[in-house]
Amino acid sequence: MKKIVEVKNVTKCFGKTTAVNDISLTIKKGSTVAILGPNGAGKTTTISMMLGLLEPTAGEVKLFGEDPKQLTVRNRIGAMLQEVSVIDQLKVREVIELFRSYYTHPLSTEELISVTGLHEDVLKKWANKLSGGQKRRLGFALALAGNPDLLFFDEPTVGLDITARKNFWDKVSMLKTQGKTIIFTTHYLQEADDFSERIILFNNGEIVADGKPDDIKNNISTRSVSFQSRDKHAAMTLVESFEEVIHCYEKEDRIYAVTNDTDAVLAKVFSQGLPVKHVFVEQGRLEEVFDLLTSKQKGVL
Ligand SMILES: Nc1ncnc2c1ncn2[C@@H]1O[C@H](COP(=O)(O)OP(=O)(O)O)[C@@H](O)[C@H]1O
Ligand SMILES: [Mg+2]
Repeated sequence: MKKIVEVKNVTKCFGKTTAVNDISLTIKKGSTVAILGPNGAGKTTTISMMLGLLEPTAGEVKLFGEDPKQLTVRNRIGAMLQEVSVIDQLKVREVIELFRSYYTHPLSTEELISVTGLHEDVLKKWANKLSGGQKRRLGFALALAGNPDLLFFDEPTVGLDITARKNFWDKVSMLKTQGKTIIFTTHYLQEADDFSERIILFNNGEIVADGKPDDIKNNISTRSVSFQSRDKHAAMTLVESFEEVIHCYEKEDRIYAVTNDTDAVLAKVFSQGLPVKHVFVEQGRLEEVFDLLTSKQKGVL
């Protein structure tokens, strides 16, 4: 296994806030990895440290076995960050040319333009006058400028409409087939599930799950038993006391008992004579797994 990214016991504090707390991970060549987590989980901070833009408070980051700030490393990476700041006083085409000039083996300007779909009229605009969507396209072009082996995208699809989103993921799929290593952050579960082969789930600056999307879903095979009851309070109190029930909640007049063992929960519900009706067993939703892992129930895995 060729390790492209190595993060060893990395912590980052901002004053009293611990944004990232003692995380370790490695990413191998050619993989597509989603860093998933709610806002404030530490995703951007982690990416920034991988890129060498932020210095860890403790621990060590290596890209291609070297310090991320090394020029040889910089030559092989590209990034599209959350905050796209473009240089004033330059037209779009000039910004692209400028970025290309930083790299030893850049893609041609024409290639970048065609990949990112920037139209001729956009290329003539001042870079700081672009719309949000156009800025994102430019950001994408700049990330690809050096024809990098390793790409970082921080929340790449926030604010994009469905067409633009699909377009972006189509482009990423193409980069994948070229053997690029791709790391992206998202707080959209579905996106992580659809487009990555590995999800690293962050919460409160820590990694709470790491694995293939299907394994993450299956391992914590949260299914639920749900029902209606005329005495919801009593039903909930009782169901909550079952040792097989991980978590219990009420939604739209139904009580949901999240569990790994729906058979046992059903058996108990009936054997204890609970006045229930319209009983359903449901496959755990991805959202449920996400909520569970990022809620107070830390260390489920
Ligand atoms: N420059 C900074 N100064 C102070 N606190 C910061 C800074 N950057 C991030 N944080 C804090 O660190 C935590 C993680 O932030 P961030 O990495 O941006 O999360 P995410 O990208 O997952 O939303 C948050 O509590 C955030 O407020
Ligand atoms: Mg962020």
